[in-house]
Amino acid sequence: MSNRSLLVLPGDGIGPEAMAQVQRVIKWFGEKQSVGFDLEEDLVGGAAIDAHGTPVTDATMSKAMEVDAVLLGAVGGPKWDDLDFSIKPERGLLRLRKDMELFANLRPAMCFDALADASSLKRELVAGLDIMIVRELTGGTYFGEPRGITDLPNGERRGVNTQVYDTYEIVRVARAAFELAQKRGGKLCSVEKANVMESGVLWREEVTKLAPEYPDVELSHMYADNCAMQLVRAPKQFDVIVTDNLFGDLLSDCAAMLTGSLGMLPSASLGAADETGRRKAMYEPVHGSAPDISGKGLANPIAMTLSFAMALRYSYDLPEDADRLESAVQNVLANGYRTGDIMQPDMKQVGTEEMGDAILAALNEGA
Ligand code: IPM
Ligand code: MG
Repeated sequence: MSNRSLLVLPGDGIGPEAMAQVQRVIKWFGEKQSVGFDLEEDLVGGAAIDAHGTPVTDATMSKAMEVDAVLLGAVGGPKWDDLDFSIKPERGLLRLRKDMELFANLRPAMCFDALADASSLKRELVAGLDIMIVRELTGGTYFGEPRGITDLPNGERRGVNTQVYDTYEIVRVARAAFELAQKRGGKLCSVEKANVMESGVLWREEVTKLAPEYPDVELSHMYADNCAMQLVRAPKQFDVIVTDNLFGDLLSDCAAMLTGSLGMLPSASLGAADETGRRKAMYEPVHGSAPDISGKGLANPIAMTLSFAMALRYSYDLPEDADRLESAVQNVLANGYRTGDIMQPDMKQVGTEEMGDAILAALNEGA
């Protein structure tokens, strides 16, 4: 059996410092097993712009297409804000998602018990929360044509983006969500704005058509604005939510904050399975590059650590190791370790590297 291949793209801002800690975790798992990880590191985002003039090179793209999984840190920062839209750091991330056809973006929002008091909502609303948002990732407003900014004859300018979905795009992401609901709490809520958008009407019709194939899943529909409201009113009503690219972007940030910190949440972006069952996959924290704290050793490496746990589960078929890493993180929190973003009274405030130390210590204890 060949090694498990992994392309690591730390990116910008807090990406590299958080990734350095996760690399220690990866090494720990590699050494514990007969089959190690074959790890390669490369540039993406602003770092790639500085080195190569483009947010992701063709060479990096072809590596990403070959490996079992990509682990990405974060992209972007004020240094690159004024660049032309087509070469901004974010375009690197979007190209990876699009060219790898990672249409299903899984964003779990789980509330760790130790952090229930760090949420902006009352403890009883969020304790035990466990939602999975499945965001469509390769279509909709993010990629729809026509798009652009044009000059009008009257001297005005016009900005255009297009919300467009074909049936196959809706069906494949909805199937991924139904399948996840089957393995979880058996409930799926499909979210759009069918009251004002034709793309939402089509979305609702196509999802509804699939329901008879999944009789064990209870399907409901909700408008996106109501969903945002319900997420902060009574989030535990949800199990799996499936929605489009733009609504998914908004709703997943909203769900993330319920859990106490954006610094805690991982994500997995998956493509279709090939004949051998292998899926292209990229794992990344939901948080961004956090330029305000970057380079100071303050960043929380937990979201990226948990993203690697998702890789263990979905790309390497090592569910027990994924469980082991998730419990190590739980133990670290239960033992009172906190980075600044999740700091609470009477807890031990630590920096990025000390949090890495604590995670490794918890792994060694659990081994
Ligand atoms: C996310 C981010 C990205 C998005 C940005 C960085 C392009 O907000 O992954 O949620 O809008 O998809
Ligand atoms: Mg976002």
